[in-house]
Amino acid sequence: MTFDLAGLLESRRGENFRLHSQYLSPQLPRVLETLGFDRFYTRGAGSYLYDAGGRRYLDLLSGFGVYALGRSHPTVLDALHQALDADLPNLVQLDCALLPGVLAEALVAKAHPGIERVFFTNSGAEAVETAIKFARRATGRGRILYADHAFHGLTTGALSLNGGKEFRKGFGKLLPGVDVVPFGDLEALRRELRKRDVAAFIVEPIQGKGVNVAADEYWPAAEELCRQYKTLLVLDEIQAGMGRTGRFFCHEHWGIQPDIITMSKALSGGYVPVGATLCSAKISDSVFSSMDRAVVHSSTFSTNQLAMVAGLATLHAFDEEDIVDRARRTGDLFAKALAPLVERHEFLHAVRGKGLMIGLVFGPPTSRALRMRWRAVETMRRALFSQLVVVPLFHRHGIITQVAADGMNVVKLLPPLIAGEEEVDYFVAALDDVLTSAEQGSGLFFEVGRTMARGAMRRTRH
Ligand SMILES: Cc1ncc(COP(=O)(O)O)c(C=O)c1O
Repeated sequence: MTFDLAGLLESRRGENFRLHSQYLSPQLPRVLETLGFDRFYTRGAGSYLYDAGGRRYLDLLSGFGVYALGRSHPTVLDALHQALDADLPNLVQLDCALLPGVLAEALVAKAHPGIERVFFTNSGAEAVETAIKFARRATGRGRILYADHAFHGLTTGALSLNGGKEFRKGFGKLLPGVDVVPFGDLEALRRELRKRDVAAFIVEPIQGKGVNVAADEYWPAAEELCRQYKTLLVLDEIQAGMGRTGRFFCHEHWGIQPDIITMSKALSGGYVPVGATLCSAKISDSVFSSMDRAVVHSSTFSTNQLAMVAGLATLHAFDEEDIVDRARRTGDLFAKALAPLVERHEFLHAVRGKGLMIGLVFGPPTSRALRMRWRAVETMRRALFSQLVVVPLFHRHGIITQVAADGMNVVKLLPPLIAGEEEVDYFVAALDDVLTSAEQGSGLFFEVGRTMARGAMRRTRH
């Protein structure tokens, strides 16, 4: 008998949260049920998701930035169908297949001239692990620097570079020789680099956790310091890269030329996990320095054909549809439309980020009555206010957003790069509505409380 996917999805519909609780972990279902985010999504198209009840959701999370091209992008979908139909010989291992070479060539062409080689990975964290190993080998040094609030993934090496204690807690000693510097602080960076034992400074161009930005002047100066002390500059472009900020690589905004670049997320086209670590031939050759060391760094699935096809089709769609420039233009539309809300709503202090990596920063209002409301919310739980925005955006308006980091009143938007004026207008009107409610009395507070109470009841039923 054939495997019947449609039949399976139909016959098991609605069991998703129960199965996760029982067989994966009960904690994520708990969180989602409490917020009333438990849905059975049946399809996605462009910037939207649809649930089993037929409700449409504007997806401003994009699978953490994976859906740059939106969902069900026809070019990527068709390319993957072609690849499955062609049933290319895959993972021969004692072979050099064509498509990894073609994708590597295309990625190198997107980067500055010092970037000449690519190592493919299965995830973002693995691309970062690769960067750590390559930098240590190429420099013969052991130390790695990272920035506070950084997020580079959750495997043990990448976790060692994590700026959030909450992620590290309970996992014992991580990599030795790894030290933190404040993000955007040149003097702190200089102090560490001066010791001349740092292999790499690994940093996100815009930090995902909090959408933190450094001053424009920071970047060329940090690059210069790294050069001076022979430390490799590694730009983690896994989230901010691939057009998200209106340039193919975010670091292009500052005209800098990192020694190593990590990418992942959007390169998958939203279908097949893929990551890449880009570097010079010199760095790559230091790792793969002899025939004995031909596979000294490798991973079984890293050049798998479907991932390569997804990557190539994604880059093709980026060029065909002028995605990077569209992202820049839509980013400008967001900035323009959100600015009046900062003026109008005391709770909204600022909008930061670049292009379509947007942080809405909330903080205590100036008027006395609103300040009391703010304090009441924040005393219950630090940074609860941002949930008072995210939850009604979802329930009232069908918009998916996320709190940018634990304990931070910043809501992050990572819209698909194909989003346009319609999505900007819809979101800005919805945010205006939610913030107006937050100012008008305790109604919003009770609304969110009711949602959570219902969620808790559903949880108990399960
Ligand atoms: C900047 C950055 N680096 C690395 C990672 C880790 O990627 P992955 O979750 O694919 O391991 C992420 C994921 O969010 C990220 O945003």
